[in-house]
Amino acid sequence: MSPHVPQGPAVGLSQADFERVRSMIHRHAGIALGPSKKTMVHSRLSRRLRVLGRSDFAGYLDELERRGSEQPEWQEFVNALTTNLTAFFREAHHFPVLAQHLRQRAAHTPMQIWCCAASTGEEPYSIAMTARDAFGSQAMPPVSILATDIDTAVLEQARQGVYPIDAVAKLDPGLLRRHFLRGRGARDGLVRLRPELGAMITFRQLNLLQPRWPLQTRFDAIFCRNVMIYFDKPTQAQLLQRLAQRLKPDGLLFVGHSENFTRARELFELQGKTVYRLARAAR
Ligand SMILES: C[S@@+](CC[C@H](N)C(=O)[O-])C[C@H]1O[C@@H](n2cnc3c(N)ncnc32)[C@H](O)[C@@H]1O
Repeated sequence: MSPHVPQGPAVGLSQADFERVRSMIHRHAGIALGPSKKTMVHSRLSRRLRVLGRSDFAGYLDELERRGSEQPEWQEFVNALTTNLTAFFREAHHFPVLAQHLRQRAAHTPMQIWCCAASTGEEPYSIAMTARDAFGSQAMPPVSILATDIDTAVLEQARQGVYPIDAVAKLDPGLLRRHFLRGRGARDGLVRLRPELGAMITFRQLNLLQPRWPLQTRFDAIFCRNVMIYFDKPTQAQLLQRLAQRLKPDGLLFVGHSENFTRARELFELQGKTVYRLARAAR
């Protein structure tokens, strides 16, 4: 437990309140929390209640519902309930595919990539490193990355670009040298991404469920990895429909290893392992 979270009496989460939480987060963020997640919800929201000095879940949920999702506490509620597990070069087979795609498309510059569940930043920085290495001789690759997530706390961490050294322990030493700076003194045990990588990325909050995405462009590639697993089938289907509209005709969609969507065959065709391109009829 973080030292900043005040201790307080443990508060029980009734089944009825758990059901309310499930319904609220599903409506707002599309996250379908299974019935087995009660302990997780209890522990995460208890922390939030302690920070607020409150001891009643029902009153907290009443207030959230009464004041509507525009009020700031809703963001804290959402931040508490998201699962943000990620890693540098997770599902590593995607990155050589991306590098090749970018090189082939170099004539279409500038290129834009959307990383739509960016979490703490390891994924968009992996994309940026891949792009820099793909255009090795250029000072600045012709690629910009939009990194979004519903969770504002993880985006703040992502913007910092600072990670414990353990997070990069398995990366290739050459890649580490090219893209990371080692912390010294008070920052010993930490690494920081080189500023050129940060300069390629715009971090912004975006809920994939919000009715309008404030996006100006279609993308050369979209990374939508390990987020659809939290959504139910109708939400996944709607999201895929919207992602298809955001992809350039010859763009690529990268998804997580357990996110195959055979039901969206009219939209996407398989290009490689968990990499899709628009089906001809959808271009
Ligand atoms: C398990 S992480 C995956 C991170 C990264 N894409 C990866 O594959 O390593 C899932 C992320 O999806 C985000 N998320 C969940 N629901 C979302 C929504 N409705 N809109 C945008 N992001 C969402 C969470 O905040 C979390 O950071």
